[in-house]
Amino acid sequence: MIEPQRIKTGILGLDEILGGGFVPNTVNVILGSAGAGKTIFSIQYLLKGVEEGNKCIFVSFDMDERDLLRTTKSLGWNEVEDYISEGKLSVNKFFAENVSYVNNDLLNLLMSESNTKTRIVIDSFTPMISSLNFESRNDVNWFFNKLREIGTAVITIEEPLNGNLGAASVSLPLFLGDCVIHLKNIGYGEAFSRTLRVIKHRSSWHAEGVFPYKILDGIGIYVEGIDYLKEVKEGIDVNEILEELGIARKDIDPKVMERVERVATSASESARKAIIDLLRTQFK
Ligand SMILES: Nc1ncnc2c1ncn2[C@@H]1O[C@H](COP(=O)(O)OP(=O)(O)O)[C@@H](O)[C@H]1O
Ligand SMILES: [Mg+2]
Repeated sequence: MIEPQRIKTGILGLDEILGGGFVPNTVNVILGSAGAGKTIFSIQYLLKGVEEGNKCIFVSFDMDERDLLRTTKSLGWNEVEDYISEGKLSVNKFFAENVSYVNNDLLNLLMSESNTKTRIVIDSFTPMISSLNFESRNDVNWFFNKLREIGTAVITIEEPLNGNLGAASVSLPLFLGDCVIHLKNIGYGEAFSRTLRVIKHRSSWHAEGVFPYKILDGIGIYVEGIDYLKEVKEGIDVNEILEELGIARKDIDPKVMERVERVATSASESARKAIIDLLRTQFK
């Protein structure tokens, strides 16, 4: 099966961790407390989209175009103003007091502005889900399905300062989202002050573990510590392993061989060991 093209996130270092990027037509949740970098993440995602010719839509309940431009200019992304005036990026602010009317207005707007490849950002989704209409699983599920029809969405969720992820406004998007990425800012100011972890990635491989990231002037979020993923990805040579084990390819059940070839393409530290163990089980 050929996998559909992944959606490049625009975050340096993240696509490798996600197995190539986001899956098309999914809702991807960025969870993080204030200052973690959720808004910067969202903008990077959209700028990558503009670069790839996608229609990009930014929706917020607290930031208008001016606020967005203040953020982008502080990072040196001066092209954003042009993107907006050229219609490549649309910025839409909804007012929190209108939040209960926003569902239909918002969907109408998204549908009218979308084309075949649309990137949507809702930064943040928290005020929306806190409104009465969105406290039920069915409502959030319905809304997410609409987003998936329209394009590939990134929505941000405010992580409560007390760390309680149990409230419906936090837990529902985490359950129902296709991919959940946790940005954590401990604030120690050292190497592991800011860390990124993929909590889940439906129907895709993703790297396990915690990756340090930085927010760099000019670049935005930069995820570090992925060098070993690249090494392993380039390093697994099935023929070499077979030779090492003294096993001929023709002696292995083709169905098993198919699985071996498949795991060899995943960028995982364990993949090589798993292949060796799997091949060994064939000769017990
Ligand atoms: N030009 C910059 N250079 C380095 N770091 C920056 C820059 N601009 C913002 N930041 C960092 O990004 C953080 C804010 O990121 P933001 O995406 O707005 O967070 P969130 O949306 O999660 O609240 C700031 O607290 C600051 O640490
Ligand atoms: Mg923000």
